[in-house]
Amino acid sequence: MRRKVIAGNWKMNMDPIEGATYVKEFIHLVEDTENEVILCAPYIDLIGLVQFTKGTNVKIGAQNMHWEESGAYTGEISGSMLKLIGVEYVIIGHSERRQYFAETDETVNKKVKAAIANELNPIVCVGETLEQRENGLTKEIITNQTRLALEGLQEEQVANIIIAYEPIWAIGTGKTATSEDANNSIKSIRDEICKIYGQNVGERVIIQYGGSVKSANARELFTTLDIDGGLVGGASLKPEEFSKIVNY
Ligand code: PGA
Repeated sequence: MRRKVIAGNWKMNMDPIEGATYVKEFIHLVEDTENEVILCAPYIDLIGLVQFTKGTNVKIGAQNMHWEESGAYTGEISGSMLKLIGVEYVIIGHSERRQYFAETDETVNKKVKAAIANELNPIVCVGETLEQRENGLTKEIITNQTRLALEGLQEEQVANIIIAYEPIWAIGTGKTATSEDANNSIKSIRDEICKIYGQNVGERVIIQYGGSVKSANARELFTTLDIDGGLVGGASLKPEEFSKIVNY
């Protein structure tokens, strides 16, 4: 049995004061869950959040990182910097970064490797656009993105990774993939990993669903065979609502 991993992606929301107020309430709302709980916050919130969640079951993640360790990369943050302050997870290749910040399959792959080298757990995002979906390309797109993101990793490293399948047309739109659809896409990602890295690895890797997850649909999504939890944007911004998703 794989564990369920539920991560909130605050995106460019929640300043450090709002974040502190949030976690004070949130840690109590999720203290009894057996699911893994992660909050992925803006960089400037991270030091505070790591401190406020110390000794609780809430883990902290970043939303991006650079693949180099240091150097002349104005505005960037490295994996070793995140590790140093106690961050444990990092979202890599979110569709908003692929769309607005020139993230490619190649930079995703470099970042995944750098995250692992710094003992951070990557949450690697893949997903198709509406146009690709309507042209019947979903499976091809998401299996390609997965293969390229993981290229060059050892089997054991792949087994410990988290993948978030996020159909782009479902992000922030209120349109959720049906649980059957989401499960099928996730199954095709898992099959691809089994094909390349072996059955044992494919069966271990955590694959989340993301895209308009809310408390009203979390249970239906998360109780399907292949969906191992979720990456939650908008609905993670309110502690009460997000705790209902965690405690689905
Ligand atoms: P959403 O975002 O839950 O607001 O659709 C999900 C994501 O982008 O990770």
